[in-house]
Amino acid sequence: MNFLQSLRCPKNGLPLQLENDGKTLTANGCDCTYEILDNGIVNLVYPTELLPEDAREQYLYDQAFQRYDRGVSWVFETLNHSNEAETRQFMIGLMKLKPGMTVLEVGAGTGKDSAIIMEQIAPNGHAVLSDLSPNMLALAKEKLHRDDLQIDYFLGNGSYLPFADGTFDAVFHFGGINTFSERKRAFDELTRVVKVGGKVVVGDESVAPWLRNQPTWQTLLKANPLFRAEVPFEDVPTNAEQFGIHWIFGGGFYVMEYVVGAKPSEVDVTLNMPNKDFADNWQVRADKSTE
Ligand SMILES: C[S@@+](CC[C@H](N)C(=O)[O-])C[C@H]1O[C@@H](n2cnc3c(N)ncnc32)[C@H](O)[C@@H]1O
Repeated sequence: MNFLQSLRCPKNGLPLQLENDGKTLTANGCDCTYEILDNGIVNLVYPTELLPEDAREQYLYDQAFQRYDRGVSWVFETLNHSNEAETRQFMIGLMKLKPGMTVLEVGAGTGKDSAIIMEQIAPNGHAVLSDLSPNMLALAKEKLHRDDLQIDYFLGNGSYLPFADGTFDAVFHFGGINTFSERKRAFDELTRVVKVGGKVVVGDESVAPWLRNQPTWQTLLKANPLFRAEVPFEDVPTNAEQFGIHWIFGGGFYVMEYVVGAKPSEVDVTLNMPNKDFADNWQVRADKSTE
């Protein structure tokens, strides 16, 4: 895939073209402009003035990028002494990647999961890595080098993805979606850009319900309110199929997986039950119900 040619305006989905200066992207019929930064990363953040929580997260990660890798490993070590490397392998494994596949990672941060994704789609795969924080993503780009697959980077908001529908074989996000200002929109976008039959894998903090009354877990919930988040089941798109959920890192984080279906799941409420001499279906039963 030619990455620049695949890009769409995150505001309205119009195809972007590279201007003659070689570093500005624009779309016919739209006044947005996007820039390729000096480090080769395309800045496709939308809206340019981020909603307050997204702006805050971008600022915090931009400040913390050098401490991030050690800090996050400490978090996982505290959670039932989890094995971070094994757990990340497990999460990536849920996508069932194969060599040659095209994968988008949203909120890639410093690239901890990206390295595993690349291992599984090489040779000839295409990894597209994005984040909202310029400093986090620049560090990922510095760390990740491979010559047996295509790697592209862009700065972006996970709630406004700059691609046409069905561009990727799989999409992965771990660790940020609880604080996205437009979380439902992000789920819709992560799903939209995956081919029908492709996989979406998303995870973040949420202490498992059966652990929430345990003393050490209560201390954690008090110390960091992010762990009190509920799993955002209500944000999952209606065309999600074969949905699965796992609690990982000792039960401190959830990771969900689903296959993108061709159309929303519906109930056939007028299909009559066979072998009856009167109409009996869900609609008839609902009409009779006093609930
Ligand atoms: C906890 S870090 C996780 C990084 C990486 N996935 C990992 O597991 O180490 C969360 C990341 O999400 C990014 N992020 C926060 N809000 C975002 C948004 N609206 N769109 C895309 N990325 C976002 C942050 O900049 C940060 O790099």
